[in-house]
Amino acid sequence: MNLKDRDSLIQKWLVEIKEYIIEQKNTDLNIEEKTADNDLVTRMDKSIEEQLVKKIRETFPEDKIVGEEGYGDDVKDLTGTVWFIDPIDGTLNFVMQQENFAVMIAVYTEGVGQLGYIYDITHDKLYSSTKGDGVRCNGQQLEIPLDLNLSKGLVASSSALMCKDQYPAVRKIGAESLGVRMLGSAGLETIEVAKGNVSAYIASNLKPWDIAPGLLFMEELGMTGTQFDNQPIDLLQNNNIVFATKNAHKDIIDMLEK
Ligand code: IPD
Ligand code: CA
Ligand code: CA
Ligand code: CA
Repeated sequence: MNLKDRDSLIQKWLVEIKEYIIEQKNTDLNIEEKTADNDLVTRMDKSIEEQLVKKIRETFPEDKIVGEEGYGDDVKDLTGTVWFIDPIDGTLNFVMQQENFAVMIAVYTEGVGQLGYIYDITHDKLYSSTKGDGVRCNGQQLEIPLDLNLSKGLVASSSALMCKDQYPAVRKIGAESLGVRMLGSAGLETIEVAKGNVSAYIASNLKPWDIAPGLLFMEELGMTGTQFDNQPIDLLQNNNIVFATKNAHKDIIDMLEK
């Protein structure tokens, strides 16, 4: 199946998932703690991933799947076509706020991003990218954001990173910027960078499914996504990441290296 047809099919699946979430969201979510009281999983996270994995396996039996909730495969390398699924990014927001969460999918072939989706369900905004075609929101092309320096823009980060002293440089980076913003969804924070609302997103310990669609978005918008040490992001492990305009990225990496 060519990329255009895959894109149409995935968008159709995502609309079905959105309708499922809207229909189910006032029912019992069966909330469970994973590693801590702020690390939750609900019946919906599991069910969405299960539904998507079933569709992928039926339609693309050769492909491999990396999913957060364990319905995918034990993927050891990025050869062939690999799907990344985060069924609900921002589960804590989903439980506490019933908004500010996203459904995310990415498709990579031989380690190269082909398709990426971040669906802001409550605002019904589907951000998508097909390699070489930029980033779209509900089909409308996003403009390339201004290449701002760190000191000229806002920065998004996670409370896990800002409230701990593990990387003291991160607070200095925040202080150097015009201000720090936090949403609690890696996907929606990446969208803030893609729209130019913030000039960087800095976060620690993100999993492959948190990053995979956003990394393609950065490439498509002429922005930069790397690890804190400026090494390429590795979609087979956890990463500390900087997604940013080229200029802000350079400023941030310089400060992280000091
Ligand atoms: C989490 C969110 C959060 C980020 C965490 C992620 P989840 O994803 O993206 O913003 O700070 O590191 O794990 O667990 O809600 O899909
Ligand atoms: Ca989670
Ligand atoms: Ca996530
Ligand atoms: Ca999730």
